[in-house]
Amino acid sequence: MIIESQQDVTDAVLGEMFRTPDPRTKEVLSCLVRHLHAFVRETKLTEKEFQDAIGYVNAIGQRTTPSHNEAMLLSGALGVSNLVCLMNNGAKGTRPTQANNLGPFYRAGAPHLENGASLLRSPTPGPELFFRGFVKTAENEPVAGAEIDVWHSSTVGLYENQDKTQAEMNLRGRFTTAADGSFSFRSVKPAGYPVPTEGPTGALLRAQQRHNMRPAHLHFLIHKPGFKTIASQVYDPDDPHLETDSQFGVTRALIGNYQKEGSGFRLEFTFVIEPGEAWRPKAPITGKVAA
Ligand SMILES: [Fe+2]
Repeated sequence: MIIESQQDVTDAVLGEMFRTPDPRTKEVLSCLVRHLHAFVRETKLTEKEFQDAIGYVNAIGQRTTPSHNEAMLLSGALGVSNLVCLMNNGAKGTRPTQANNLGPFYRAGAPHLENGASLLRSPTPGPELFFRGFVKTAENEPVAGAEIDVWHSSTVGLYENQDKTQAEMNLRGRFTTAADGSFSFRSVKPAGYPVPTEGPTGALLRAQQRHNMRPAHLHFLIHKPGFKTIASQVYDPDDPHLETDSQFGVTRALIGNYQKEGSGFRLEFTFVIEPGEAWRPKAPITGKVAA
């Protein structure tokens, strides 16, 4: 159609949707155009701001490498990651869930380890941690044979993919739950860490005068055929940034309870999974920063 007014632009774009064969694609794209056009109208976006926005979106891709996923990081900083998680877990967001953001630092292919094994593959200072997890159904039945990916940052606040001084796959491992639904490992107690601020996510945080810290946490990915796959994170209750996570991930259901044990710590945590479809989330990164 010939565009006669600014309202015509929205009608013209929506009018082109009718050929879309897939109903879900049609629904999502129509909604996107309606909200995007409404956003431009509500903010009275200027030409200069539009130009800046284009540069910003391009920079998200340009910052992304095999060892860094800027779009995933930005989604967390905008609260979208956890919103999607909470809408899709815990009986569609009606009750607490141990599901949480996958985050930008999951790598597939971590080595399979025996229960009780250490996640350390290169010397990593920090207080010792013994972790035991239990995977159960809502009816409190143990789930045996679940595959659990575990990963966390070092005590200097870097994942191995960001840090050439750590060995390949340091602080990462894959475990299988025993007959009682348990799995366990040894590691170092993780510290809170700053998310990278060299890219668009950093610009967003600076523009809002927000800090870039995440409270200390351990990451999990729980996969068992017949159950909905969940990513999870277990947070340190004593971390000073628990209330102000720069990725908005902390929920009540995910605050752990560390017990002092000798010179280190012990942490036990139960993950409840629901019947559903098991799937393998695409890893946001595939490798380590170049040496
Ligand atoms: Fe993390």
